[in-house]
Amino acid sequence: MSLRLGDIAPNFKAKTSIGEINFHEYLGDSWGILFSHPADFTPVCTTELGRTAALQEAFAKRNVKVLALSVDGVESHHQWIADINETQHVTVGFPIIADEDKAVANAYDMIHPNASETFTVRSLFIIGPDKKIKLTLTYPASTGRNFVEVLRVIDSLQLTANYSVATPANWIEGEDVIVVPAITTADALVKFPKGVKVIKPYLRYTPQPNK
Ligand code: BEZ
Repeated sequence: MSLRLGDIAPNFKAKTSIGEINFHEYLGDSWGILFSHPADFTPVCTTELGRTAALQEAFAKRNVKVLALSVDGVESHHQWIADINETQHVTVGFPIIADEDKAVANAYDMIHPNASETFTVRSLFIIGPDKKIKLTLTYPASTGRNFVEVLRVIDSLQLTANYSVATPANWIEGEDVIVVPAITTADALVKFPKGVKVIKPYLRYTPQPNK
């Protein structure tokens, strides 16, 4: 059965481009992103890993550790990383898991047989410091992911984990947020001293509380 939001992200030991890791130990108290690729030396994947590497500081600032995965081996990963660094003008510093026996891909349901019997689709899991799955994305091989959107989602997840707010459509860091329905407007006015704008009784905005 596929993994759902709130499930514990399965732990695993795996060979990676930076050596063997125990996933949960590697994450420690950080947030995590685990994302899969159809194969090494493929063009869309090369750009995706390049974009991720270019955003390494942005992920680190948010206390997020990134791990990529494909079903190719470590030696192949090393050769591919050299290509990514050369063509995308980056230095890939995050591990790429060598999931040759597909153990991780199967645990995370990353192979969708009606798309491909052998290759992983573009799955992405965001995992909280409690090791629970906070978000999943699944893209086909032909569509590269938007890693600025992944950062935006992390900003929302980290904010809403700590405050009784939700983020509206297309929200970005710094914009007003929504007061969750569970809070009365009277309580919201106490909780959010910057003010509460009531558009409808169920649609209430407040300035981002941690800014
Ligand atoms: C790619 O990563 O470029 C790719 C992989 C499989 C099918 C299509 C594109």
